[in-house]
Amino acid sequence: MRILSGIQPSGALHLGNYFGMMRPAIELQEQGEAYYFIANYHSMTSLFDAAERRKNTLDVALDFLACGLDPKKSIFFRQSDVPEVTELSWILTTLTPMSLLEKCHSYKDKIAKGVSPNHGLFAYPVLMAADILIYDSNVVPVGRDQKQHVEVTRDIAVKFNEQYGQTFVIPEPRIRDEVAVVPGTDGQKMSKSYGNTIEIFGDEKALRKKIMSLTMDSRSPQEPKPDAEKNLAIQLLKLVASADVAKDFEARLRAGGLGYGDLKKALFENYWNYFAEARTKRAELAANLDYVHNVLAEGAGKARTLAQSVLKRAKLASGLD
Ligand code: ADP
Ligand code: TRP
Repeated sequence: MRILSGIQPSGALHLGNYFGMMRPAIELQEQGEAYYFIANYHSMTSLFDAAERRKNTLDVALDFLACGLDPKKSIFFRQSDVPEVTELSWILTTLTPMSLLEKCHSYKDKIAKGVSPNHGLFAYPVLMAADILIYDSNVVPVGRDQKQHVEVTRDIAVKFNEQYGQTFVIPEPRIRDEVAVVPGTDGQKMSKSYGNTIEIFGDEKALRKKIMSLTMDSRSPQEPKPDAEKNLAIQLLKLVASADVAKDFEARLRAGGLGYGDLKKALFENYWNYFAEARTKRAELAANLDYVHNVLAEGAGKARTLAQSVLKRAKLASGLD
């Protein structure tokens, strides 16, 4: 089984990225041949600062390695080190109906938020399809917001296979229901573009402050809360605390007598401990950047060899040989 996923270097990684995509991806590296990359071409659709892209790219590499991506098990690389994807992307655009892209929620949401659309933003799912198809990927671990993009990939692959003969493997999204949408500090989906993130790594004081200011309702501590499972702090606690601890806090909130301040304090402590080991690992990696650059270079070499062979197959099938 070949597993593939990517993450954009568009800002500091957060709990939504971690539980929705990174942890499932890291767990899957035990079960097959995993290819994980930093989608720096994709980040160009929304980030226009070269220095920032460079810094974010390195940060994503450090974050992912610190969180347990094992370069002995997974192939880890930068998207732009395999420029063949852009060539495949062109080939795929010619079989992609405009209507398929016009339906994409992610595109429509960005426009609705006032982002002025460039052609890259519109064509984003086609490049993503090329990313997936160029490695003959079977399984794509992502959060729920990316499901539609994997469906677009499937549609394009089927179309190509029908038009030019069996060429591409049809991939499947792999979405963990329990973490499909991690809520942010305001209760909406946590996202870099909504300013509601809790980062995986960062300054302790600032992160404590973020958690202590999670949006809660105005009910008094004494009041029983029959809807305790819907509480934002409880939902986040379930991700970072043991099942027993989370259950205990949920029961105390339900019964009444637990104040939101104490609940948030517990959330912060559990969150901070959850990433303690990764934090140490990250500091070690940051002090050894040569190692990190080597991992990415080696990953790129392996990924490129495979990409070239699949691209060749697609060119042959479509008469570009
Ligand atoms: P963002 O919305 O912060 O820009 P990305 O689009 O870069 O995040 O997402 C990277 C990966 O993390 C994708 O697989 C995405 O589905 C997942 N992801 C992002 N936010 C969440 C969330 N709140 N809950 C679950 N998964 C998420
Ligand atoms: N679009 C994905 C996101 O924003 C990143 C990505 C690019 C990706 N190419 C991919 C994810 C291929 C999975 C497979 O999260």
